[in-house]
Amino acid sequence: MANGHQKIITLDRHIMETQRQEYPEARGDFSKLLMQIALTGKIISSEVNKAGLLDVIGTTGITNIQGEDVQKLDQFANQTMIRMMDHIGMLCAMASEEEEDLIHIPKAYENGNYVLNFDPLDGSSNIDVNVSIGTIFSIHHRVTKGGPGTEEDCMQKGREQLCAGYILYGSSTMLVYTTGNGVHGFTLDPVVGEFLLSHPNIKMPERAKIYSVNESNYDIWDQALRDYVSHIKKRDKENGTPYTFRYIGSLVADFHRNLLKGGIFLYPNDKKSPHGKLRLLYEAAPLAMIAEQAGGTASNGSKKIMDIEPESLHQRVPLYIGCKKDVEEIESFINKHKNK
Ligand code: AHG
Ligand code: MN
Ligand code: MN
Repeated sequence: MANGHQKIITLDRHIMETQRQEYPEARGDFSKLLMQIALTGKIISSEVNKAGLLDVIGTTGITNIQGEDVQKLDQFANQTMIRMMDHIGMLCAMASEEEEDLIHIPKAYENGNYVLNFDPLDGSSNIDVNVSIGTIFSIHHRVTKGGPGTEEDCMQKGREQLCAGYILYGSSTMLVYTTGNGVHGFTLDPVVGEFLLSHPNIKMPERAKIYSVNESNYDIWDQALRDYVSHIKKRDKENGTPYTFRYIGSLVADFHRNLLKGGIFLYPNDKKSPHGKLRLLYEAAPLAMIAEQAGGTASNGSKKIMDIEPESLHQRVPLYIGCKKDVEEIESFINKHKNK
């Protein structure tokens, strides 16, 4: 710490300085895009933080493409993201968990070179009980040439992402992002209204004894997962102390804890959901990029999430994400059972 005090680095400055180092030839479009997402996060955060006082608690009575009740705050976050992003001339299309089809840029506005896939509010079941929720986003460079974007622009492999991140509305509001050069966390100072660098260059440990999974699905799990969970819960000489169990029910919050402290989050395919529950484009792939950049990894049980070729906008995948050695261990259990 220079002269005994922490340098105060805003998100905007971090983005501009990173951009200057990584993409000296860039025109600043990409940075403007990221700053607009951050501004959107501040607006959603302000609504989330007073949700109990406004008529934004509860459901809208609408069921979305996922077959889930749309919470009023889901809808608010979704509409805010679309409204903030559709006119800035950076995007040629968007895909949202809350929208069945591709979101086109209105004719009145210019189409840009990027696409945005997002989960406007992750952890909706926790909105009414004041538990952490978040927004997850993923940015790709368009693959089509000019004009309105297409599904092809949104449905690119995770490995092709330019940027991935999330905004966590928790005890504090944090924005965590990567552009492929490490993972950096910013905490919103609500008085100043700025995201300030609080967690530079986040790295996960190789292994940590924390696991997150919805154990109520135990009786519909495959045998491999049952054996793995029994193995990490064993209290014996080989294992030493068993793994601690933590499950918030908001992927973004469970993932954030594992990013900072280590651990593994599992949402498997099971007899009820043959492809798992979580969506590839705007949940698994962005968090997988963050995990890999922090020294961890993410798999569907046999393949890296980042290498899966998307087949549909709302494609679901099994998700095992966190410390490298922990993910490799569940993969070995799955592999062993496959070869039986
Ligand atoms: P969303 O609220 O965006 O639909 O996501 C909810 C997801 C994810 O946040 C969480 O990990 C998972 O649903 C919890 O599912 P279960 O309630 O089945 O455990
Ligand atoms: Mn979600
Ligand atoms: Mn959601």
